[in-house]
Amino acid sequence: MRILVTGGAGFIGAHLTERLLDIGHEVVVIDNLSTGYLKNLAEVQNNPAFEFIQEDIVTMDFMGDIVKDVDMVFHLAAAVGVELVVNDPVRTITTNVHGTEQVLKAVAEYDKRVVVASTSEVYGKSTKSTFSETDDLLIGCPTHSRWSYACSKLLDEFYVMAFHRAQNLKGTVVRFFNTVGPKQTGQYGMVVPRFVQCALNNEDLLVYGDGTQSRCFCHVFDTVRALLGLIDCPDSYGKIYNIGSHNKISIEGLAEQVISQLGSSSRVKKIPYDQAYEAGFEDMLHRAPNTKAVNDLLDWEAEFTLEQIISDVAVSMKAESAE
Ligand SMILES: NC(=O)c1ccc[n+]([C@@H]2O[C@H](COP(=O)([O-])OP(=O)(O)OC[C@H]3O[C@@H](n4cnc5c(N)ncnc54)[C@H](O)[C@@H]3O)[C@@H](O)[C@H]2O)c1
Repeated sequence: MRILVTGGAGFIGAHLTERLLDIGHEVVVIDNLSTGYLKNLAEVQNNPAFEFIQEDIVTMDFMGDIVKDVDMVFHLAAAVGVELVVNDPVRTITTNVHGTEQVLKAVAEYDKRVVVASTSEVYGKSTKSTFSETDDLLIGCPTHSRWSYACSKLLDEFYVMAFHRAQNLKGTVVRFFNTVGPKQTGQYGMVVPRFVQCALNNEDLLVYGDGTQSRCFCHVFDTVRALLGLIDCPDSYGKIYNIGSHNKISIEGLAEQVISQLGSSSRVKKIPYDQAYEAGFEDMLHRAPNTKAVNDLLDWEAEFTLEQIISDVAVSMKAESAE
């Protein structure tokens, strides 16, 4: 197959691109390199089955020409990361709404298959112990800019469902829960690379809030395995799937595990949310997926442990700083 990966120079997109090429597909990546890096694609750049197009999905005027010539699209390009979202809500909304609209219109016009990346953020402030795809969603007030990410991604989901209903779009939505692993940057607030980098440098690990908030961390290799399962999967059209692990840990617990696993002399330092982000910043206390739907569909479960994830991130960071 010839497959378009938007956002393919980003963290998840680059891993996906590598795997797609490994198993014999041709891959075209469109990325504006805003949070992605060409170095993420260094291992595939000379592969004749790989093509890179540096463009912005919002403003490019030949999306249709690219989509026309591929068999399917993984749409991952987005404004991502709590810090980026809080600091640049206009870019977040524009990229995640208008960029996705461009991709979906082209996909619908040429009747292609598409998998669209959404996020566990859409569950918002819901307090359930695990989140299921059919749950009601509880998004915060628009005066808190962090919710622009959840809302823009939610609109993407509605778009997919609307195109599916109106034009039989072969579209599937995946809601990723805290995906982590090598190549992820801590620059935009991602907690695992930020903690691992600080621990390797023996610097304080900054825990935002009281540290009792918990997350489930999923290795990007597990995430990519789920995406590969969705390539040829008509049962998934017009549906939404949580993709995440059951590796649940509090953020303070994560900081402590990173420090002890890496034998670091770092200490944990707590700072209030309004100092870390913006006044009145709202966070969700717990965020864990119910993965029954994807398990039933693909017999998929996340397999990597948190220990393996921390180890893989540390090994890749050490290798990168040695280059
Ligand atoms: N990593 C996670 O834990 C996580 C969780 C939930 C959802 N997601 C979703 O998964 C997808 C991939 O996220 P990621 O973690 O790899 O982030 P990332 O920032 O590494 O990747 C996003 C990529 O999109 C590119 N991009 C951004 N705006 C663009 C534009 N206008 N035109 C072209 N390219 C553009 C960036 O340069 C980057 O390479 C995103 O849609 C994100 O919302 C990720």
